[in-house]
Amino acid sequence: MSNVKVFRLAYADFFSQEPKKMVDYYTTTLGYRIMEEQDGITYLSNGVDHHNIVIRPGNQKGIRSYGYQLDGKLSLEEVQAQLHSQGIDSTLIVDGKPGVSRYLELHDPAGNTVELFTVMAQPVIGYGTTGILPLKLGHIAFYAKNFVETVEFYSDVLGFTFTDKIGEAFCNFLTCNHEHHVLNIVSSDETRLHHIAYQLRDAGHQYASSDILAKQGLNVLWGPSRHTAGHNIATYHHDSDGNVVELYTEMDVYISELDIFEPRPWHQELPLKPRKWEGLSSWGTEFEVDLAKI
Ligand SMILES: [Fe+2]
Repeated sequence: MSNVKVFRLAYADFFSQEPKKMVDYYTTTLGYRIMEEQDGITYLSNGVDHHNIVIRPGNQKGIRSYGYQLDGKLSLEEVQAQLHSQGIDSTLIVDGKPGVSRYLELHDPAGNTVELFTVMAQPVIGYGTTGILPLKLGHIAFYAKNFVETVEFYSDVLGFTFTDKIGEAFCNFLTCNHEHHVLNIVSSDETRLHHIAYQLRDAGHQYASSDILAKQGLNVLWGPSRHTAGHNIATYHHDSDGNVVELYTEMDVYISELDIFEPRPWHQELPLKPRKWEGLSSWGTEFEVDLAKI
């Protein structure tokens, strides 16, 4: 078993054919702040980190790379050696991007580019004053080819823990901290983003966020409804590129020492342990119908 341990998803780095519109979405709609622009690439922060979102020009929409922060108990050189011993190639990049002076670049079995780092600059730009202002980037869901190998990679190599699944071999939820899921991996014959999710404060913030979206002509695609896996209250909408964005609150809190989730009144079994679910909504909302085109 690996000693390499990721503890958070720090950033998502997007390609965009219309990067100005994406930057406008992130600043005007979500309330992120521009930290830095360099070589046509925009680095956006939601308060403390140098960046949590990167927008760069490209020939397609979607994700260029995901940035995960390591716990720092191993140096990047030691992490690289351990990955190598497990047959995984990586490249140590120095001064490759602002805010993260050193990181390892590698690929997961699905083909995603993964960047692992121990230190990110924290210039503390502060929260914006308008827009939705999420608490943070919470999780990524992606369609993955090589589904089984990809789940094993995040579990066995990067230290993630299984928390739930939908169906027997369709969709696995993994965490690297106390949140129910930081990754949601969906079996597919292609690898691409399913959705990116931002945490809100509470139900009132959820309603206010939908009002802001409506004023900006962004339709809510589904929700609010409560999921089964994670029990988060969620709504979904499209960003300016058509990527699906989830806004959520009240996600289950995982207690790793007990392998249960903190009890909540809406749990139908107590204590609630990681398990298999059949549907996606605990309220019976037809998520599968409403979001069939995602
Ligand atoms: Fe989600």
